[in-house]
Amino acid sequence: MPLPHVLLSAAVSLDGYLDDTGPERLLLSSPADFDRVDEVRAASDAILIGAGTIRADNPRLLVNSPERRAARLAAGKPAYPLKVTVSGSGVLDPAANFWHTGGEKLVYTTDQGAERARRADLGAGVDIVSLGPGSLGWRALLEHLHDVRGVQRLMVEGGGTVHTQLLQQHLADELQLVLAPLFVGDPGAPRLFGPGAYQGGRLRLTETRRIEDVVLMRYEPTAPGTGPLASGADRHWLALACELAERCPPSRTAFSVGAVVVAADGTELARGHSREGGDPVVHAEEAALARLDPADPRLPTATVYSSLEPCARRASRPAPCARLILDAGVRRVVTAWREPDTFVVAADGNGLLRGAGTEVVVLPEYEERAKAPNAHLSG
Ligand SMILES: NC(=O)c1ccc[n+]([C@@H]2O[C@H](COP(=O)([O-])OP(=O)(O)OC[C@H]3O[C@@H](n4cnc5c(N)ncnc54)[C@H](OP(=O)(O)O)[C@@H]3O)[C@@H](O)[C@H]2O)c1
Ligand SMILES: [Zn+2]
Repeated sequence: MPLPHVLLSAAVSLDGYLDDTGPERLLLSSPADFDRVDEVRAASDAILIGAGTIRADNPRLLVNSPERRAARLAAGKPAYPLKVTVSGSGVLDPAANFWHTGGEKLVYTTDQGAERARRADLGAGVDIVSLGPGSLGWRALLEHLHDVRGVQRLMVEGGGTVHTQLLQQHLADELQLVLAPLFVGDPGAPRLFGPGAYQGGRLRLTETRRIEDVVLMRYEPTAPGTGPLASGADRHWLALACELAERCPPSRTAFSVGAVVVAADGTELARGHSREGGDPVVHAEEAALARLDPADPRLPTATVYSSLEPCARRASRPAPCARLILDAGVRRVVTAWREPDTFVVAADGNGLLRGAGTEVVVLPEYEERAKAPNAHLSG
């Protein structure tokens, strides 16, 4: 299931707080950074905040720049991104700025919350969607945003309760964090993340930027998903495998494939691509796995990313890649494209892996990229 690209955006004090406990919202960012946030909003299809932030900050969440709104309209988009909130309780103040500014609004809630929110009379242009009884499932929420509302890029502007869940459930693709040079010093103030540990190892730092007296830091989570559930980082690693496929020496008799082996904490263990290192028959997964010690304790919890389904039969070597993956003890494979019958008829590498208990996740949104370096082989 394709999900929107999820960008978590927040400003924090030097001691890691999102706000103080006073009645006014604490201004952490600088004017130039508010303008940067405006630009990020303008590039998003939707902006999401938790109901706690509506209550505490009463934000408008607008694109303030008329030029950016005009550019959105010129691109065929609404002037303002869709505003989204989540509320289990449905306790929402109809007087809040959220409902009376900008374009369309959407509330994700529970069956009980939906009843209450409908009674609150939040006004025209507010869509109330129940995701069922009990607590909200974030994956269902993101699928709905993507499939029903066409959201490709979602910006999440807090608060901490929302950010923490999206990070811990491996649903965030990117984190844009601004560090403000002040201290809150109040243990009762809301924190950016927590409680509870994030089981995803180190994040990848992709940018640092000084903006007046604050620093913008951009990170990407790196941890593979679990079982059938794809993480934001799964998409990053599969995209890398597709990029490696483009580096293969050309061939008329074999596919160009890229592969990456990644540990559960997001550490890249090895990568490979077809026909690398002057070996005319080596396969991508085979080349990557050959770089690893078979006794490496990280292999049983690692994920193999391969642009093409691992092969189940091959003429060039005794063991096909699906067998090599099983022998390495890897239990999870992410791939973009099922092997066509070009060279081997009905090769079912995914079936072989699944039959042996390995989870195979197919992300069809990367199929075009995986096929691109093989276009000359079809037809
Ligand atoms: N510095 C920054 O960049 C920044 C940005 C945003 C917010 N903040 C600060 O953060 C604080 C608010 O943070 P917060 O953590 O209290 O609130 P929050 O994350 O904005 O919202 C939490 C609320 O969202 C709903 N919710 C979240 N996950 C849910 C789930 N899985 N199922 C059902 N409902 C769910 C619940 O609403 P119900 O209670 O209605 O059930 C919950 O109480 C404020 O002090 C604000 O100033 C700072
Ligand atoms: Zn192979």
